[in-house]
Amino acid sequence: MNCEKINEELLEFLDKSPTCFHAIDYVKKKLEKQGYQQLLEGKTWNLEEGGKYYVTRNLSSIIAFQIPKKNFTGFMIGASHSDSPTFKIKDNPEIVSDGYVKLNVERYGGALFHTWFDRPLSVAGRIVYREGNKLISKLVNLDRDLLMIPSLAIHMNRKVNDESSLNAQTDMLPIIGSEECKGELMKEVSDGKEILGHDLFLYIRDKGSVWGAKQEYVSHGRLDDLQCGYGNMIGFLESTPKNSVPVFAIFDNEEVGSLTKQGANSTFLEDTLTRICFACGKDKEQEKTAVASSFMVSADNAHAVHPNHGEKADPVNRPQMNKGIVIKFNANQKYTTDAVAQGFFKDLCSSVNVPTQSFTNRSDMPGGSTLGNLSNSHVSLNTVDIGLAQLAMHSCYETAGTKDTEYLATAMQKFFSSSFIQEEEGTYLID
Ligand code: CO
Repeated sequence: MNCEKINEELLEFLDKSPTCFHAIDYVKKKLEKQGYQQLLEGKTWNLEEGGKYYVTRNLSSIIAFQIPKKNFTGFMIGASHSDSPTFKIKDNPEIVSDGYVKLNVERYGGALFHTWFDRPLSVAGRIVYREGNKLISKLVNLDRDLLMIPSLAIHMNRKVNDESSLNAQTDMLPIIGSEECKGELMKEVSDGKEILGHDLFLYIRDKGSVWGAKQEYVSHGRLDDLQCGYGNMIGFLESTPKNSVPVFAIFDNEEVGSLTKQGANSTFLEDTLTRICFACGKDKEQEKTAVASSFMVSADNAHAVHPNHGEKADPVNRPQMNKGIVIKFNANQKYTTDAVAQGFFKDLCSSVNVPTQSFTNRSDMPGGSTLGNLSNSHVSLNTVDIGLAQLAMHSCYETAGTKDTEYLATAMQKFFSSSFIQEEEGTYLID
């Protein structure tokens, strides 16, 4: 794997993924090019030995897998998320006032509001319409400089640099143009169709950048968590599984708690694993045995130590960009990593010369959460929480290390090719 090429492709992936729908669409096309066949949850699955498959839910989550053999020992699962903090356009979005048309939007996830001001924005998502007796979903992307959230001049807000508290309903509404353009947004989005429903989001128009004196850093929107999704995908596509089924999953809605039909806290993974077992001739007992000999990597970006705020990091565990994969720990199990998971994953990384580092929150700071423990409430198995170190998490333009995506891809290639078999109580055979 070539580091420069991986960063180029990562930026292309981010450019083409303004929303979770577009990210999943990009992944689908990439999988299809490599011979993966689409399965539908609403149709019967006939799986062949040696076959490669994928299934989506809501067009915003995806699970791909291959069947090296029907009497496989377990599942090697790599999961990440497709969504990022943004603003969702409400129903009846137009507000006309003082000669402007503004869009009524709602926050999606925990965006850093101030980063969204004074830069051209656009709109993408999906629309739903009827054709004959069919309800059809279509992805849309207006792909032009269309909106702006203007900041308030400093003359009208002298304290802005001292204290900042921004209100989602009053401060964050973008304008789309002058009064005369009323109705323009839906006209453009619908493309002549009568829209019955929509999930439309704002996104930034900035291009990605590789920068720094020695090209150390890569910046773009949505690195959390598409960087992990991308690294996992490359590892998955280059893996050579023998005894276990590699499962590459990207779930939507992590930024809003994962509790949706397509989120990590849904039945999507469980349903998929059960159906794989059934289609391979396993009974309920054999399915439980397979899950006990499985492992999950829950990959979601991690905080790098901040150059101007070192005091926010733990005194000892201080991840840096370009220093390898971050293993996340939390005594209260917001992160799933335990001694077995840490041992297995660290050993796996060092076997392919990928460095690892540790993250914990300061003991007096609660920190965030992710998808691993929620997924475990449906399919419970040994899991490690990891991520790639980044700055400015939940800014609309985030920064990560140029070496780290390759580290993740290399480790995940090894992971998806491996097996993790329960041999005795507390003892696992690594293959
Ligand atoms: Co995340």
